[in-house]
Amino acid sequence: MSSTLPLNSAINQPLPFMQEKYTGEIKISLHKSDPARLISAVGERISLETFTGPYSTEFRNKFSALVAKNPEIISRPEFISLVKVFQDSVNVRRYGNGAINTDDQIIKRIDYDSVRPLQGNVFTGLAIVDKVTGEIIGRAAIGSGSKPGESEFGLALRRDYHGKKIGKEAALLMSALALTYFENKFSVGNKKEKLPVTTFTATALNTNIASRKLLSIGCKPIKSLPSNLFQRFACFIHLDKLLNWIGLPLSMRQSYAIKGSDLRSILGKQMDINKLHISYETHAGI
Ligand SMILES: CC(C)(COP(=O)(O)OP(=O)(O)OC[C@H]1O[C@@H](n2cnc3c(N)ncnc32)[C@H](O)[C@@H]1OP(=O)(O)O)[C@@H](O)C(=O)NCCC(=O)NCCS
Repeated sequence: MSSTLPLNSAINQPLPFMQEKYTGEIKISLHKSDPARLISAVGERISLETFTGPYSTEFRNKFSALVAKNPEIISRPEFISLVKVFQDSVNVRRYGNGAINTDDQIIKRIDYDSVRPLQGNVFTGLAIVDKVTGEIIGRAAIGSGSKPGESEFGLALRRDYHGKKIGKEAALLMSALALTYFENKFSVGNKKEKLPVTTFTATALNTNIASRKLLSIGCKPIKSLPSNLFQRFACFIHLDKLLNWIGLPLSMRQSYAIKGSDLRSILGKQMDINKLHISYETHAGI
């Protein structure tokens, strides 16, 4: 499958790791005024960026300045890319209940992902973009979880990009975003029950080895959930478990409990924290 990758793709560059520690730079930006790039987390090879697809009538009415003239949905890069992710039978079997998304479901997904940041909500789906070609190669979500205060991760790549450590890099970028959201006490949940984020969760099928490996960067399995077709593997990152998630030794966990929320030092266990740059034009929402 690697033959299908563009020759000048950033993905062809190796991921910068030294003894399992990510040594590349990560830049996080949260902007309110620039509609094309409201949220971005940029690594060495990929970036996670706000979707820009203005498809819905509601969206067009609300943000008329952003609307492309005569939008031809099926030729938009966001749509083409997510079709390759969510209409791929192998991918959807690994990702969830195995049901292939319809075109309409994919359009709704993009609408939702694009509108939320413009409403000041940073908990959304983001496009995974190859830094060199600008091509969208998947979707990463730090969305709302099932409970107030809980945010749920999700990650899906086009199948022609699997196995190239993009998942690993995206998981690290999502960890850095989680740190940013956590430090800023961004609220998550529905309108009635919004609370500052305290918990990050993720779910993987127990048959999905790649996903489980990725989650082991950040979280620990605590229970299996029954489903119709598969046993699910679940991990929850509660504030105290966040420390497990990042792999902090017990002694440091205890000192964390005393010293308070210095998540930067914890995240430094998995990436060179000096190379994490965070900028805000305006805090998005909250
Ligand atoms: C899960 C997914 C995001 C992983 O991304 P990826 O870029 O393919 O994974 P990486 O190359 O970063 O590999 C991560 C780890 O899994 C291992 N791995 C990757 N593919 C694997 C496979 N098919 N079988 C076993 N192990 C695999 C890698 O060796 C690596 O392990 P290491 O860190 O010990 O070297 C990607 O495969 C995907 O999009 N799958 C479909 C959707 C999905 O399953 N999403 C997750 C739902 S929770």
